[in-house]
Amino acid sequence: MTAVNASPRLASRLVNGVLAVKPLASLAKHQARTMMIKRAESIGVYWREEVKALRSRCQPNTQLAPNAELSPDWEADLARIQNPALEYPEYYLRPFHAYDEGNLGWEAAMEVEVAAHAVHARIWLDAGAQGDAMLRQSYHDVLKAQLSTEPRDILDLGCSVGMSTFALQQVFPQAKLTGLDLSPYFLAIAHYRTPHPTSPTWLHAPAESTGLPDCSFDLISACLLFHELPRTVAVQIFREARRLLRPGGHLAIMDMNPKSDVHAKMPPYVLTLLKSTEPYLDDYFTFNMEGAIASAGFTPPTVTCNSPRHRTLVAQVC
Ligand SMILES: C[S@@+](CC[C@H](N)C(=O)[O-])C[C@H]1O[C@@H](n2cnc3c(N)ncnc32)[C@H](O)[C@@H]1O
Repeated sequence: MTAVNASPRLASRLVNGVLAVKPLASLAKHQARTMMIKRAESIGVYWREEVKALRSRCQPNTQLAPNAELSPDWEADLARIQNPALEYPEYYLRPFHAYDEGNLGWEAAMEVEVAAHAVHARIWLDAGAQGDAMLRQSYHDVLKAQLSTEPRDILDLGCSVGMSTFALQQVFPQAKLTGLDLSPYFLAIAHYRTPHPTSPTWLHAPAESTGLPDCSFDLISACLLFHELPRTVAVQIFREARRLLRPGGHLAIMDMNPKSDVHAKMPPYVLTLLKSTEPYLDDYFTFNMEGAIASAGFTPPTVTCNSPRHRTLVAQVC
């Protein structure tokens, strides 16, 4: 394992220069997006078909016009799931993942699943469209090995469209799950995908201030959340998790591994491009997360590499 080499080189300075000029940045984003969609479709992630089907709420393979209308049912679901009193924190109102509206729009929401399948296809050689499922499985294997009893109540922080929540529900079928996210667009999709009326349930709230009662969960999981946060917010979330967990409860975090050789060996200009879509990545890469978790009232977390570029941290309430 090697630390990330953040030294600016000529190529990354060039990329930064291009990204600073708005029309060039838009062109670069468009090119990158077209390439990503083509690559996804070549490995069996049928990006355009799946997004079209989700937008119109039809089964994939239904004959639809290329620009199928957004079904009006989405707006109705959004109104039902969103907390109108919620004030979005400033750090969240940034472009993420090359979407100008960040996580607060339909385009990002409709593309979460296909994008996750495309990005995670590269983790293991030949994983292809199964890469995402393999990543989640590798996390759950580490997690299960560290829990002596099955959790009854589980909170999934930053649940997005529910991929991490549904995967946890399969591992712990008896548990009552709550998925929490700041994007009501993502939660509307999670709600649409929910097969069971009572679990998971969905909550539109910030992870650092959930409004949920003290000591109400046995396990709090956060999958791929923390690289999207400034460290000041991460610290608030650890304190909130400590408040929400019952005695003996566990906090489990799976995310990018800052010490992975994959990041260290990434060509600097690729890393620069990645950082342009992830505004808090530098802060995350240099954050002593283990220390901050212990300071919030947990045992020092175990740290396990669960993929060539991801790690799992598990800590227990002290
Ligand atoms: C990369 S996604 C991870 C999604 C999901 N857990 C998974 O494994 O596929 C990160 C999610 O965290 C959410 N998020 C970011 N900051 C948050 C916060 N302070 N409170 C709640 N959710 C947040 C985003 O809206 C986004 O859905």
